Amino acid sequence: MQFCTMLKKLQQKWGVNSGKMFLIMITFALGGSSCARLADLLLLLFFDEKNIFWWTAYFFLIVVLWPICVILISILLGQYSFFKSYIFRIWGKMIGKSVKINQKTTKIAIFASGKGSNANNIISYFKNISSVKIALILTDNSEAGVIDVAKNNHIPFHILNKEDRIDYSNCIEKLRNNHIDFIVLAGYLKKIPESLIRAFPEKIINIHPALLPKYGGKGMYGSNVHESVIAKKETESGITIHFVDEQYDHGEIIFQQNCDITASDTAETLAEKIHQLEYAHFPRVIYEVVQKQNQR
Ligand code: GAR
Repeated sequence: MQFCTMLKKLQQKWGVNSGKMFLIMITFALGGSSCARLADLLLLLFFDEKNIFWWTAYFFLIVVLWPICVILISILLGQYSFFKSYIFRIWGKMIGKSVKINQKTTKIAIFASGKGSNANNIISYFKNISSVKIALILTDNSEAGVIDVAKNNHIPFHILNKEDRIDYSNCIEKLRNNHIDFIVLAGYLKKIPESLIRAFPEKIINIHPALLPKYGGKGMYGSNVHESVIAKKETESGITIHFVDEQYDHGEIIFQQNCDITASDTAETLAEKIHQLEYAHFPRVIYEVVQKQNQR
């Protein structure tokens, strides 16, 4: 059980899906066993018995052979890019320096209008992932809790005033000046204008607290969504993560996850269930989309 929890934590830290995690584990297992076998075979050429010299030579051989075996197997299993950065990171730790490998950092801007619990969760998730940086937070609400989230995490933030929201060119300039590659809407309640979509084509994703296309559109946000779902006596709801296009809650769907609604559920309890789904899936899906786009 503890082993499974540890694996889950690692999977989250590395930002990989279950299939990739499985292949990574197989690579570790095959890399470890083949390197031990190879070291054994090589030492047979020089030693008749396992004495202190054998063990010393064995130790050094393992240190040298392990990265080679793991890299070779990772190529066979299609996991080379993960293991290349993994081995560089370990090497950096061993020599007490962070070793720079040619890895591009994707800079993300989060747009949010409310308390920002999703923003906070996304920031925590990416803290240990060096290839992604939450570089800017934007809000249309000067009272929004997400401003405290930005301050607590030392992330620059910008409040979009009325003029900014009539003409988004200021906002686009801010995003460009901060070298933003990707935009995440985490509870941003204003419609995204065409100019911003054109400036960041296929680079803006949104989370909606229902199973689109149901319960989407203008005015459908936060508790409004949950109240409508409960009023219609639905037996399930869920989350939808989608690309943003010119229409409210309309772009291509990337991911959906449902949850049951029981007879005792209220809009508040449903909101809590939905938030838990959002925390569990949104950062991982963001990471998968970013990785996929970077591989193009
Ligand atoms: C989230 O549940 C998100 O799905 C929803 O706003 C909430 C923000 O919560 N977004 C929409 O309704 C967009 N149509 P948070 O501020 O605690 O992250």
